[in-house]
Amino acid sequence: MIITFEGIEGCGKSTQIEKFKESLKKLKLDYVTFREPGGTELSEEIREILLNKDLDISPLSELLLFESARAELITKKILPEIGKKIIIIDRFIDSTTAYQGYGRGIPIEIISKLNEIVVGDIKIDRTYLLDAPIEILEKRNSHKKKDRIERESFDFHNRIRMGFLKIAQKNIDRVLIIDATKSVEEIQKIILEDFLKIYGYSTTG
Ligand code: TMP
Repeated sequence: MIITFEGIEGCGKSTQIEKFKESLKKLKLDYVTFREPGGTELSEEIREILLNKDLDISPLSELLLFESARAELITKKILPEIGKKIIIIDRFIDSTTAYQGYGRGIPIEIISKLNEIVVGDIKIDRTYLLDAPIEILEKRNSHKKKDRIERESFDFHNRIRMGFLKIAQKNIDRVLIIDATKSVEEIQKIILEDFLKIYGYSTTG
């Protein structure tokens, strides 16, 4: 089973992934987590390049670097775990569609084709999309040091937010939009209840 977490910068993904892991631990469910880009030695090296604020990277190179990092992660880490553990991924193909497609303007068909080649027939069971207006999240994260992508303009990040919402509309059965302005506890509850329904458990007993 594959669960992905998506959203714009500062939406609270990492906190929620930590909470979700704690819940799975309590339920004694076996899981493994990965982040994208990252998760293998080479993918982490690619991450360093992609987030380096001193580098100027063209949109197409950026796209191909994200896909290379993904190809490594899938082959070396994700495929061996399929069918064995719950696989949690912090960002996956929807981030590429949102950032390189809606954000950078690369045609969505090209992104989809590349994602298809790299991901093969791996199926995502559920995606939690944490959504909130950019201005709220920017305020929340104004003290943080910004990487190459975080430093981009308000408009760029807003296109990505709208892109994620379009992806959710097109994949209504897979993507659950969650209001990221809710409290950590409220969001944690929404995610856990939804997950348990999908996983076939009942929260009431
Ligand atoms: P994060 O792991 O801290 O969220 O940082 C990853 C950054 O990379 C974030 O700005 C989103 C961006 N990204 C893309 O632009 N395309 C992708 O395909 C992925 C996985 C991430």
